[in-house]
Amino acid sequence: MADVIDGKKVAEDVVGKVKALTAALAGTKPGLAVVIVGEDPASQVYVASKSRTAKECGFHSVQHTLKAETSEAELLGIIADLNADSAIHGILVQLPLPDHIDAGKVIQAIAPEKDVDGFHFINVGKLGAGELETAFVPCTPAGSMLLIERVRGKDLSGLNAVVVGRSNIVGKPMANLLLAANCTVTIAHSRTKDLPALARTADILVAAVGRPEMVKGDWVKPGATVIDVGINRIAAPEKGEGKTRLVGDVAYAEAAAVAGAITPVPGGVGPMTIAMLMANTVISAYLAAG
Ligand code: GUN
Repeated sequence: MADVIDGKKVAEDVVGKVKALTAALAGTKPGLAVVIVGEDPASQVYVASKSRTAKECGFHSVQHTLKAETSEAELLGIIADLNADSAIHGILVQLPLPDHIDAGKVIQAIAPEKDVDGFHFINVGKLGAGELETAFVPCTPAGSMLLIERVRGKDLSGLNAVVVGRSNIVGKPMANLLLAANCTVTIAHSRTKDLPALARTADILVAAVGRPEMVKGDWVKPGATVIDVGINRIAAPEKGEGKTRLVGDVAYAEAAAVAGAITPVPGGVGPMTIAMLMANTVISAYLAAG
C-alpha cells in the first residue's frame, strides 16, 4: 500500500516559512493583488482562499472583484495601476477569464517581476532555459516538485517521469522542472498512443488532464510516485440525491494499491498551489527590497 503524501502538512510548513520571512522583512509587507472577473464558483473559492492565506501570512492583501462585463481595457488599466504600485509585489489574475477578454494579452501585461503565477513569457522562457534561480515558477508544478522531493529526495537523476497533460499552467512547466532535475521526461496527451503502457514506465507519474479517475491502477508501475493534480467534482449518488464528491485524475484506491507514494484528492497538490503563491510573493518582496 502506498504512502499517502500529506500536501496539507507540507503546505503548512511552506506557509510557516513564508510567515517567518515576512516577519523578518523590515520596512515592507509583501503585497499580493488577486483579480477575479465574473462569477465562476470554483474561481471564487480559490480566490477567497488565496486572499485569506495572504492575510494569514501577514501580507498586504488586495482583491479586485470585477463584474463579468468588465472590458479588456478596464482590466488592463487595473493591471497597469498594480504594476506601478510599489506596495504590490505579486499580481494574480484568476483564470479562466470571460470570453470577450484576451487572457494571453492580460497575462503578458503583468510586469514579469510581479508575475507570481509564472505565466508571463519572460518567466516561461527562463524556466524553459533552466534559469530557475531567477524565474517565477507556476505554483501548482512548483508545489508538486516539493512533494516529489519529500518522497524521493532532491536527487531525481535518471528517473523516468511521465506527465499526462500538456497545459501551460501545469503539464509543460511540470515537465521542465522534472527535466531540470535530470529526469527523463515524457509529456503525454490525448493523442498519445498506448498511454497505459507509457505510464507504466514512469517512476514519477504526474496526472494533470482534468478527467476524473482516468489513470487506472494498472497504469502505475509498482513503487512509483503518483502526483494527482486533478480536482474534479463528480456526482455521488451513494451520498444521497444531488450530492457530489471531489476526485482526482487518478483512480485513487486502485493506484494506491500499486504505487510507492501517492497524493490524495483533496489534501494533496491543492494546498501546495496556494502555499507556493505565498512563497513566490514573499520572494518578490525580498527582491524589490533589494
Ligand atoms: N486557474 C486555475 N489554476 C490557476 C492558477 O494557478 N493561477 C491562476 N491565475 N488561475 C488559475
